[in-house]
Amino acid sequence: MKKKIEFLDLGQQPLANYYLDKSQINKIERKYRLIICFDNQSKLVSIKKTFSSKMMFNNKYPYRSSMSQTMQKSFKELARQIKKKINPKRILEIGSNDGSFLKNFNKKKTIGIEPCANVERITKKKKFNTIPKYWNTKLARNILKKHGSMDLIYSANTISHIKDLNDVFKSINIVLSTSGTLILEDPSLLECLKRNTYDQFYNEHIYVFSYLSLKNILRKHNLEIYKIENLDIHGGSNRYFIKRIINNIKIEISVKRQNKEEIKYGIDKKATYFKFQKRVESSKKKLISIFKYCKSKNKKIIGYGATAKSTTILNYCKINNQTIDYFLDTTKDKQNKYTPGTKIKIEEYKGVIKNDVGYVFLGAWNFKKEIFKKEKKYIKAGGKFIIHTPFPKII
Ligand code: TMP
Repeated sequence: MKKKIEFLDLGQQPLANYYLDKSQINKIERKYRLIICFDNQSKLVSIKKTFSSKMMFNNKYPYRSSMSQTMQKSFKELARQIKKKINPKRILEIGSNDGSFLKNFNKKKTIGIEPCANVERITKKKKFNTIPKYWNTKLARNILKKHGSMDLIYSANTISHIKDLNDVFKSINIVLSTSGTLILEDPSLLECLKRNTYDQFYNEHIYVFSYLSLKNILRKHNLEIYKIENLDIHGGSNRYFIKRIINNIKIEISVKRQNKEEIKYGIDKKATYFKFQKRVESSKKKLISIFKYCKSKNKKIIGYGATAKSTTILNYCKINNQTIDYFLDTTKDKQNKYTPGTKIKIEEYKGVIKNDVGYVFLGAWNFKKEIFKKEKKYIKAGGKFIIHTPFPKII
């Protein structure tokens, strides 16, 4: 029986975080076919074509986790929980970005790994110990030699970006102390399927994990999940609390609950993925018709949050600068650039949505609550948002 089953084709796509300078917009962009696969044996969902880490994570990386209050709050709350319940002496973060998580801890206790040197520098400037390297066994051995073992390793939205998962966990096993805790946080496949958020798939998200698939990989490395927190972050994420199997720790009810829910939904069955594919196709049709309707109203349509996720949506639905006038984004490194593939100008967010804007496509739908709160005035004045999840609609 064929193990890897291709179930979704999201068409020709550019690299999702590769925002273009003005000088690049008339040049041919590098594109690839975004196909999503389900491995019937390991239950892992992954993208078919992958790129080297160097190509995606380098000193031009535009993403900053500090750009959202929701993320900052979530990291702060987790840090409080860690201090209270685990009280670790040494903390290592894999993929520390601009230090939004580490800043909640004593500098002497932490080490951050961040291969994107432009982002790593931000954390280093705040006097945190950060290493601008990729996570692998060589680095893990060096850290162990220099700093000893770690009793807490945290990684959010990073492990799913690394192709060689066996190397990831081999490296973690080198540094994690015998009774240490590993906390992983990544988008939940169950939520992705339920909310039809096919834009969780792009070149950086090599995997979208279910509990079932992650459990299978961890077991190979003598690690097990003992607790799961379901978060609303990034459109539904899971925070996995993990220990070495030898600790024989009590498995909490949250793990059994997640297992039951995933099985009930059919996350281990290929038919579930073909149903998802059908929903994604109809989502595309509906979104295109919504944009057509909005355009017919002769009102300006803009985008809000030029996310990597929105690269997938816009290129899949072929919505470009003929439909969307410009994007607003708070990230300096994205401003005055153009969206990959669709070449929509990204402008600086200056605190208001202009009066002539009729519709706002919510690229950063995962921060809907935060953004709607911020944009009360626009909404009160009759402004409308276009959102694609769970089904495309105007709100
Ligand atoms: P993400 O979905 O990959 O985390 O990216 C969120 C993007 O949205 C990031 O470029 C920052 C931007 N953003 C805004 O422009 N305004 C906001 O209020 C929020 C929350 C995010």
